[in-house]
Amino acid sequence: MSAIPPLHAMPMVGFGTYLISNDEVAHSVESAISVGYRHIDTAAGYGNEQGVGEGIRAAMQNLGLSRSDLFITTKLWPGNAAWGDAPKNFEQTVEACEHSLKLLGLAYIDLYLIHAPSGAEQRINQWKALQHLKQAGKVKHIGVSNFTEAHLDELKNAGEAMPEFNQIELHPWSQKPALLSYMAAHHIHPIAYSSLVPLSSWRVAPGQASAKTEQMKADGTDSPFQRMAEKYKVSEAQLLLRWGVQKGYAVLPKSTNLERMRQNIDLFGFEIDAEDMALIAQMDRGDGVAWATGDPRFMG
Ligand SMILES: NC(=O)c1ccc[n+]([C@@H]2O[C@H](COP(=O)([O-])OP(=O)(O)OC[C@H]3O[C@@H](n4cnc5c(N)ncnc54)[C@H](OP(=O)(O)O)[C@@H]3O)[C@@H](O)[C@H]2O)c1
Repeated sequence: MSAIPPLHAMPMVGFGTYLISNDEVAHSVESAISVGYRHIDTAAGYGNEQGVGEGIRAAMQNLGLSRSDLFITTKLWPGNAAWGDAPKNFEQTVEACEHSLKLLGLAYIDLYLIHAPSGAEQRINQWKALQHLKQAGKVKHIGVSNFTEAHLDELKNAGEAMPEFNQIELHPWSQKPALLSYMAAHHIHPIAYSSLVPLSSWRVAPGQASAKTEQMKADGTDSPFQRMAEKYKVSEAQLLLRWGVQKGYAVLPKSTNLERMRQNIDLFGFEIDAEDMALIAQMDRGDGVAWATGDPRFMG
C-alpha cells in the first residue's frame, strides 16, 4: 500500500503569501479564508509567519472554523553557503520548525517543506529532521521544494523515505516534464508555484524582482492565454490556474486584491479542451523564473 496521503487532504487551490509583508499579510489571509481558501502557503524565508498566524486565528474566530478545516504549509529555510548562510544541521532544522510553529501560533503544521536544495552536505540531515518532526506530530506531512531528480535520488539512495510533495515552479512556460514523470513514478505529489508568471500583471509592483526576461514581459501582452481565456469566458489568470489543476497540480495563487482572490479560486466551472491543452504543451520554455537569483533547482 502506498504511504502517500490521499490528495484530498490538501485543497487543490491554496493562497500564496510570498511578497506580502508581515504587517499586511494578516488582513490578506483573513480575506482569503473568508472568500473560501482553506489552504495557505508561507515560509520562514517570507518573514511573515507571525502575520499569517494572526490572519488564520482571526478568520477561524470570525467564521467559526476549527484548525482541522485548514491546511497550512510552511517551509524550512535550509541555508545556502553561497550566500554566507551556513546550511542547517538536524538540530537546527528541528529548532527552525519549532520557531515557525511559535510564530504561526499553531500546535502543528500540515505540510513542512525544505524550501530549496541549498543545504548541500546537510540535505540528508535536514530530511531526517523533517521525518523526526512528522513522527513527533509537529507536522502532518513533509516534502521538499525545488528539488530535481538528482536531489530526490540522493534521498532514495540514502535509503530515506521519499518526500510526499515537491513544490516547484510550474506553468505553461516551465513545464518540467522529466521531473514530473520521475515524481509520478515515485508517488511524489506536485504543488505548482508562480502559476501566473505569463501574465503581464505578474509581480509588477516595485521591488518584486524575478528572472522574468524582457521578452517574456513583452509576450504577456496579446498572449495566446488571453485569447484562450476569452473562449472560455474566464480571466487569463483563471485559464493559467485551471491548466495547473487540470494537470493535477495544486496551485497557490497570491493576490492582495479581494476580487482577484475570488477569481483565482473559482476554477471549477470550465474545462480547457484537449486541443488547447495540446497547444499549451508546446509552449514550454524551460527553467523557472520566479527566483531573481535563477532557478533554485540548481542551488545545490
Ligand atoms: N517554493 C518556492 O520556491 C516558491 C517560489 C515562489 C512562490 N512560491 C509560493 O507560490 C505562491 C504563488 O507564487 P507567486 O507569488 O510567485 O506568484 P503568482 O501567484 O503566480 O502571481 C502573483 C502575481 O500575479 C498578480 N495576480 C494575482 N492574481 C491575479 C489576477 N487574477 N489577475 C491579474 N493579476 C493577478 C499578483 O498581483 P496582486 O497581488 O496585485 O493581485 C502578483 O503580482 C507564492 O506566494 C508562494 O506562496 C513558492
